[in-house]
Amino acid sequence: MTVREIKPGVYSVGAVDWDRRLFDELIPLPEGTSYNSYLVRGSAKTALIDTVDPSKEAELIGNLQAAGVGSLDYIVANHAEQDHSGSIPRMLELYPGAKVVANEKAREYLTVLLGIDPGRFQVIKDGDRLDLGGKTLEFIFAPWVHWPETMLTLLVEERILFTCDMFGSHLATSDLYASDEGRVVKSAKRYYAEIMMPFRHIIRNHLQKLKAVVFDVIAPSHGPIYGRPKLILDAYEDWTSDDVKNVVVLAYVSMHGSTAKLVEHLIDALIRRGVAVKPFNLPRTDLGELAIELVDAATIVIATPTVLAGPHPSAVYAAYLANALRPKARYAAVVTSYNWGGRAAEQLAGMLGNLKVELLPSLAFKGLPSKGDYAAVEKLADEIAARHKGL
Ligand code: FEO
Repeated sequence: MTVREIKPGVYSVGAVDWDRRLFDELIPLPEGTSYNSYLVRGSAKTALIDTVDPSKEAELIGNLQAAGVGSLDYIVANHAEQDHSGSIPRMLELYPGAKVVANEKAREYLTVLLGIDPGRFQVIKDGDRLDLGGKTLEFIFAPWVHWPETMLTLLVEERILFTCDMFGSHLATSDLYASDEGRVVKSAKRYYAEIMMPFRHIIRNHLQKLKAVVFDVIAPSHGPIYGRPKLILDAYEDWTSDDVKNVVVLAYVSMHGSTAKLVEHLIDALIRRGVAVKPFNLPRTDLGELAIELVDAATIVIATPTVLAGPHPSAVYAAYLANALRPKARYAAVVTSYNWGGRAAEQLAGMLGNLKVELLPSLAFKGLPSKGDYAAVEKLADEIAARHKGL
């Protein structure tokens, strides 16, 4: 992506990765992503804020050349993960006078992960400032957005907050700013669900702390910049709050149709009771879409047939994911079908230990659902609807 000026002396010099479809060999990227890097030129010193994924290193180098950067004084590492830090070693070769500005934890991680010479660091503390000459960088520690070492950098005079992963979105776009707000927020919600949701309570504290910080632009290191920060700040307030929506996420897999019949019945039963349902047929599901719905849903139901005495692997994966992402759901239930035995329901329920949910009684059905089985599904719908009252 070409060099673009954000404010006088501040440039976007990162790269858009239009074709990337998987992150960490785990997270689907239906709309690609970007690795944003920002150049800040003061009258005395020049700083680069975050670099790019090593696969886009040549693009960053080309952009710095196009911007006429002859020397760099500082490379600010807001986060040690390689999609932002991976090009630091090459930057240090190209700019031998540059120091890596990082907190102590990031220094440790960057030394271990990238083999950066410990002598190349300038270690800063929370609230420290760096004067570039008419442009001042202030460092605001914000651990766990996404790793323990993450921090934000404020460009004081221009009121730009560089947030790295926080407020980011995996979105490849030619828009420098978030102009298509609906699309950006949906993408940011997917990003929040996959990366930030496990740290919801900590992020809530960060949002509180940011209320005392003066900025009018948020420049993350994935996705477009927010010229209207309220858009993403309000969204984060909502996502990190304890409020849940009148929604059941129903993650299921069916091998020979018995579980599917129960699931179809449960969907109808919930709709009849005024409860919204988001069904996900797991073998055909983009897990990012499932994660998005987990952000707000009041209830999670996982339904599975029994395979070799346990839950289907797709259901195991969904339970593991939900447990790891720690959504704010208040209720959960497990529905299983079986023929010759098994403990699928117990095993699945046992995988949800991280969730602060009331576990509703599990349902286990033998073979094709009978009248009594459908009645039990109706009862489960009753239990859920009663708990959703007022949402
Ligand atoms: Fe975009 Fe946690 O790296």
